[in-house]
Amino acid sequence: MTVFQQVTVQLAERSYPILIGPGLMDQVGAHMAPVMTGKRAFVVTDDSVAPLYLDRVLASLDKAGISHLHTILPHGEGTKDFAHLEALLDAMLEARCERSTMVVALGGGVVGDLTGFAAAILQRGVDFVQVPTTLLAQVDSSVGGKTGINTHHGKNLVGAFHQPRLVLADTAALTSLPRRQVLAGYADVVKYGCIDEPEFFAWLEENGAQVIVGDEAARRHAVAVSCRAKARIVAADEREGGVRALLNLGHTFGHALEAETGFSGELLHGEAVAIGMVMAFRLSARLGLAPVEDAARLERHLAKVGLPTGLNKNRAWDVDRLVHHMAGDKKVKNGKVTFVLAKGIGQSFLTRDVQEEAVREMLVDFAK
Ligand code: GLY
Repeated sequence: MTVFQQVTVQLAERSYPILIGPGLMDQVGAHMAPVMTGKRAFVVTDDSVAPLYLDRVLASLDKAGISHLHTILPHGEGTKDFAHLEALLDAMLEARCERSTMVVALGGGVVGDLTGFAAAILQRGVDFVQVPTTLLAQVDSSVGGKTGINTHHGKNLVGAFHQPRLVLADTAALTSLPRRQVLAGYADVVKYGCIDEPEFFAWLEENGAQVIVGDEAARRHAVAVSCRAKARIVAADEREGGVRALLNLGHTFGHALEAETGFSGELLHGEAVAIGMVMAFRLSARLGLAPVEDAARLERHLAKVGLPTGLNKNRAWDVDRLVHHMAGDKKVKNGKVTFVLAKGIGQSFLTRDVQEEAVREMLVDFAK
């Protein structure tokens, strides 16, 4: 029998468990039933995930005596918009979803964010369960209750904090992911080591390759430690008034790179975060805050597993535009960008006290 790892997000009456391990896809109904007030579920997935896992999830609901309806969205970031939100809410209302209906988000970050937001606003809030199928969703987006959509003003600018009742992370689902997607999710795993888990970073240096190639025990451990790290930060600061912003390590720079590449497949989110973390550490080292060796150590590990650590030299990078994208990032407060810098691996901190000139100089060097 498989032993699942369990992590709890401690948020008083809104606390919930995250179960991590292989085969959970067949136990969704069994784990959901005890936290449901009714016997109906509405499953939301996309056309990439549906052929792989929808039947198994629906069979698990049948087995648990939970009646169900489902909808299949088109895959891809373009689905996280107002039009698809409206269509999803319509489908839920047509299906007569009630307060007691459990909404199930089966998929990656797009499905989780959109479905979670629909659950947050349908009848002023219905319960939902996250069944994340990508590494990025298992270690980050399915945990912590951030839900939302993109608008033409930017990514994730409309949304709500709405915590799931349960997260079921089936690590066997990661075997169906292309290697590039696994690597992109792995950048966020490394992020937790860099924020405040130096022993985990050292473990990743030894075992990261195993996590990426698909060793089940290594993956389960990496997802569990990542979720525990995130759960601790979310429990301390659910609505990002302070320390939760540490989870944005590498994201301010990464977001600028994504914006500059038009949020295209040229640079996946996780790849941008990997480069963004290197930038954050290089800036920290330039400012004399972190040892140069720690920045180099991070770069060595990311490069060793196959993540990008530098900019594509075939493209001309405009430093002014990158700085402009950072200033447009939603992590700006009173006109100042909040940076996540580090005193070393596992010693990240927040600061709004970074001179633009220092950022520019680092970027100019980086783009050479
Ligand atoms: N993905 C960052 C957060 O959940 O706060």
